Amino acid sequence: MRKTLDRDKMPRHVAIIMDGNGRWAKKKQLQRIKGHEAGIKAVERTVEYCAKTGIQVLTLYAFSSENWRRPALEVRALMKLLRLFLRRETARLIKNNIRLQAIGQLYRLEPVVRAELKKAMDKTSSCTGMVLNLALSYGSRDEIIRAMKHFFQELESGGKDLAALTPETFHDYLDTAGLPDPDLILRTGGEYRLSNFLLWQAAYAELYFSETLWPDLAESELEEIFLDYQHRERRFGMISEQLS
Ligand code: FPP
Repeated sequence: MRKTLDRDKMPRHVAIIMDGNGRWAKKKQLQRIKGHEAGIKAVERTVEYCAKTGIQVLTLYAFSSENWRRPALEVRALMKLLRLFLRRETARLIKNNIRLQAIGQLYRLEPVVRAELKKAMDKTSSCTGMVLNLALSYGSRDEIIRAMKHFFQELESGGKDLAALTPETFHDYLDTAGLPDPDLILRTGGEYRLSNFLLWQAAYAELYFSETLWPDLAESELEEIFLDYQHRERRFGMISEQLS
């Protein structure tokens, strides 16, 4: 069995549920926010590693539409960290030819956060390497409903025909329009659920659950995870013999 990554078999789109920041902090008797700060370092390592290994799209679940329900102090701290990340990382993204994109209810973000996000997206807009896609105030059910409303508005105004709605055309109404579906969804932190993340797009994704708390995720484990992915047989409903 191959022990080094096959660059021709890398997942095109990797999506990550970064879980475990709070528990990481608790274990060290630190405040939860310290866990999120350490989480940012893991984000930086992961972005760099994915870009280096030829991943085309990396989606990170940075803040869910349900995370607004957390204590106001934690929400404020997370938003501050996001702004810092955007301000600090933009130059590095440009240097590594990474284009920043975002999905979710971006209208719910504070204007200062939205402005910082827009600035970073504009500055990286001509980068042609990996796409770093941040899921912010994101929830999959909300995304699907917004997509349906958009389609039905077009239907009502006469611009669309119901027969035109197929799984492929529906994709164009989702926040992830233009991006391939995730090939690999990773969740850290030892929980085994998708938590309203990319439910439509996950139809054929390979799932990987790691016990590692997000701030502890190292390049070496990412390599193991990608190797594990490369040893899986993705049949998309067919049988093995049809694949060869
Ligand atoms: C889950 O850990 C993590 C989050 C809700 C936020 C993830 C945010 C970061 C990694 C930092 C910000 C990211 C960017 C891209 C700027 P948890 O708090 O639910 O951990 P727990 O389950 O151990 O409590």
